Amino acid sequence: MTQFKYSKRVPADGTDAVGAILQAAADPKIISFAGGLPAPELFPVKEMKAAVDKVFDEHGQEAMQYGAAKGVTALREVIQQHVKEKEDVDSELDNVLVTTGSEQALDLVGKAFVDPGDTVLVEQPTYLCALDVFRSYGANFVGVEMDEEGMKMDALEEALKANPDTKLVYTVPNFQNPTGRTMTAERRKKLAELAEKYDVYVLEDNPYGEIRFAGEHVPAVKSFDKSGHVFYMSTFSKTLAPGFRLGWLVADKDVVNKLTVLKQSADLHTDNLAQFAVAQFFADNDVDAHVKEISDLYGKRKNLMLEGIKKYFPAGVKYTDPEGGMFLWVEVPGVDDTVELFKDCLKHNVAFVPGDPFFAGEPQPGAFRLNYSNMQEDQIEAGLKRLGEALTAAVNNK
Ligand SMILES: Cc1ncc(COP(=O)(O)O)c(C=O)c1O
Repeated sequence: MTQFKYSKRVPADGTDAVGAILQAAADPKIISFAGGLPAPELFPVKEMKAAVDKVFDEHGQEAMQYGAAKGVTALREVIQQHVKEKEDVDSELDNVLVTTGSEQALDLVGKAFVDPGDTVLVEQPTYLCALDVFRSYGANFVGVEMDEEGMKMDALEEALKANPDTKLVYTVPNFQNPTGRTMTAERRKKLAELAEKYDVYVLEDNPYGEIRFAGEHVPAVKSFDKSGHVFYMSTFSKTLAPGFRLGWLVADKDVVNKLTVLKQSADLHTDNLAQFAVAQFFADNDVDAHVKEISDLYGKRKNLMLEGIKKYFPAGVKYTDPEGGMFLWVEVPGVDDTVELFKDCLKHNVAFVPGDPFFAGEPQPGAFRLNYSNMQEDQIEAGLKRLGEALTAAVNNK
């Protein structure tokens, strides 16, 4: 068999641990809280079809032609207005880059700023695909402790002092994947100040911020940024549909120009038809009402999750109570191998994502992520009953 000589960027073990978990959880017998998908029943299929039809009628040739690497102007204008309205972030058109999913924004920032050995500070735990991206550029990760109010700023400052080669601080401040936690406004302000003080960049990743079903809006880290050290990224994946692969980055013009060059090497530009269609969708629809419908449904599902957890989980199990987004985080004391716990749960025909791959360093034993956005209401209680039985058995066997 040929031994392929891959670059150092390719993970040595070549395994996709999370893929294997999702595969195992895909058995129809299993009620799976493992996925991370939006509810497809709320995709605006009819309205989007009308938008696509209109694009073909009015801009068909342009939408099918090659386009600009920075993105379609009409969509960049929508984004510019959107970040002002939702996050009080001022920008000019040249601050806005459309990306192929916000995943590409992660990749471009990694490519542009992380040399092998550079330190990237991440929340402990954090979005696992961001770890994969920065790892592929040779990042040295340092995890920063979190609590219910998000990343701890005293811990961050210590990490910045201890790691003078830090390039980037990565944060998901709203309804974080995987914990569902939200960073307070006070910490966000401090984060922007620390970035300037230590001359490091903050990558603020906000896919979930608009899906708020409780509590009050918290201003973006970027809204406190006076020096250009904060790069803000978001996506239409959770509010419209992930299949369009449309995300964006708002940053200093110089950064946007450099990332545009890198994006050109990656894919020339993001799908033109999708960009035209989403710009048209915004022009013709009440997007806020649509997002409210999503938030209301997820809020209802989250409440059912908490009811089930309270009813069926053994005493002592901790869990977060998110005010938005798609995930909550569970910590089971006394369990030291979460992957074994996952296997036990599969025997009870229920699944979650073990916490381990969300940690840059030592994982927290007994922690896992539950998704509720794509879980039908009647399945929630049944699934949590099974999970409660599996957890009770695991805790009692210790
Ligand atoms: C925290 C976070 N960032 C980025 C992404 C990537 O989203 P997309 O590429 O669909 O915009 C996700 C997807 O789940 C996510 O949870």
